Amino acid sequence: MTRDRWYMNLVLYQVNPRTFFDANNDGIGDLKGITKKLDYIKSLGADCIWLMPIYPSPLKDGGYDIADYYGIHSDLGTLDDLKELINETHKRSMRIILDLVVNHTSDQCEWFKKAESDPKSPYHDYYVWSSTDQKYQDTRIIFLDTEKSNWTWSEKAHKYFWHRFYASQPDLNYDNPAVREEMKQIMLFWLNLGIDGFRADAVPYLIERDGTNCENLPETHAYLKEMREFMNKRFPDGILLAEANQWPNELRPYFSEGDEFHMAFHFPIMPRLFKSLALGNCESLIQTLKDTPIIPKDCQWCTFLRNHDEMTLEMVTEEDRQLMWNFYAPEKRMRLNLGIRRRLAPLLGGDKKKIELLYAILFSLPGVPIIYYGDEIGMGDNIQLNDRDGVRTPMQWSGQPNAGFSSSTPDKLFLPVIDSGAYDFQQINVESEESDNQSLLNRLRSLIRIRKANPILSTQEYKIENEGNTAIFSISRMSILCLNNLSNISQTVMLGEGEFKFLHTSLPNSSEGTAIKEMIVLEPYTYAWLSRESGQGSA
Ligand code: GLC
Ligand code: CA
Repeated sequence: MTRDRWYMNLVLYQVNPRTFFDANNDGIGDLKGITKKLDYIKSLGADCIWLMPIYPSPLKDGGYDIADYYGIHSDLGTLDDLKELINETHKRSMRIILDLVVNHTSDQCEWFKKAESDPKSPYHDYYVWSSTDQKYQDTRIIFLDTEKSNWTWSEKAHKYFWHRFYASQPDLNYDNPAVREEMKQIMLFWLNLGIDGFRADAVPYLIERDGTNCENLPETHAYLKEMREFMNKRFPDGILLAEANQWPNELRPYFSEGDEFHMAFHFPIMPRLFKSLALGNCESLIQTLKDTPIIPKDCQWCTFLRNHDEMTLEMVTEEDRQLMWNFYAPEKRMRLNLGIRRRLAPLLGGDKKKIELLYAILFSLPGVPIIYYGDEIGMGDNIQLNDRDGVRTPMQWSGQPNAGFSSSTPDKLFLPVIDSGAYDFQQINVESEESDNQSLLNRLRSLIRIRKANPILSTQEYKIENEGNTAIFSISRMSILCLNNLSNISQTVMLGEGEFKFLHTSLPNSSEGTAIKEMIVLEPYTYAWLSRESGQGSA
């Protein structure tokens, strides 16, 4: 049991360390760079940073291919730099969690090198081997565009090894007690440095069993509970956030009886937010909320619009996938695996109203919202870049060279900045948005401020109202009513009895605190958060 429930009412901010800010001007973002930008993160209203992988890695998968779990990639800095980042984060009353890649290592990890070259090495059994590639045939392939099988032949070991992601990411063998212990020691190492918890990567796939799809197995849950118990015995405040890209009913067991994960990403909600906006109809969003199981009281969902991966469409029907692809990814290059490699702003055609609307819905839902770095200023993407790099380009701080991200020469940049088209850094950057009080950045700041001032918004309590009009997503959180017009025509909403005041809205000429009664007219793609001042009637 964690001592307090500090994670229940957060706004999380996701940082890609290589593209956030470059403090030593070698073209690569680094830990010192993040430390320099902590005041900015704090100014958003975020209170916890999710730091993506910082470990030594050949970077075949953005650092999710770890070569050494007990170190820091030299491009990013040193352990002392991390300690400084942690201390400075804590000084600002924020927390910081780290990505922990539980399921697999890089093939450049010493463990795998030893495992491959010496079958007698204790590391051999760290991985999953087979003399055929026919085992576990019911297991889906995740990186469909590049991988043909979950088995790859090892010339050195003369066997196949198992991998759920790239062939350069062999899966660890969680039937081996030594692996189970090793991962716990890794957690301890980082917790001892002051890390507040982990975003545990790809957790459904830890254990394989014949005749199953090798996902969400009871044996996997048993180990995850062990991890939790191990951590909280030593660090009662430490948290675990599950990355389990699964349907709602498969997600629920990751909370177990409140003794497995503290938090889990709500994967199913995300595509339904985009679908509802595409159709101007919120039925699928409401259905997903209804399908969302109740979770233990000390557990919390994490909701998000976009992240560092392709926008996954794994957890939607084939029909919906086609709909979403046609609508949001008309060009072939925009598609990747079963998803879309685009950022939030370009997905919504750069329409600030729609971007703000989706954020307003996200912030009105139960759960902890996550902001992916750059999406708060409406950054664009570069779909020509490899894999998912197009949504990981350098943060656009200003109109200065390299978008103010680095003073290196442009050819040294880890990834190119976006310097043409509608999302050019000359136009989209933090500096210019800071000075405009109607900018996306400042609008989001006020949304976050109001969300945080009303802790009820982060509880599990909610009620869907007004289901008769599917163009309006209407959700009440005790005395707060959040109305969202997903359609391109104005909608009138009857408010019923009582008096309301605007808490926040994108309607023109309606400021915070203005009173309103009886009805409200919502222009296309606008929202209003209203607080009920009197009366019991429901909207
Ligand atoms: C997770 C990460 C993704 C990575 C994969 C394999 O899904 O979000 O970026 O490629 O795990 O580690
Ligand atoms: Ca650097």
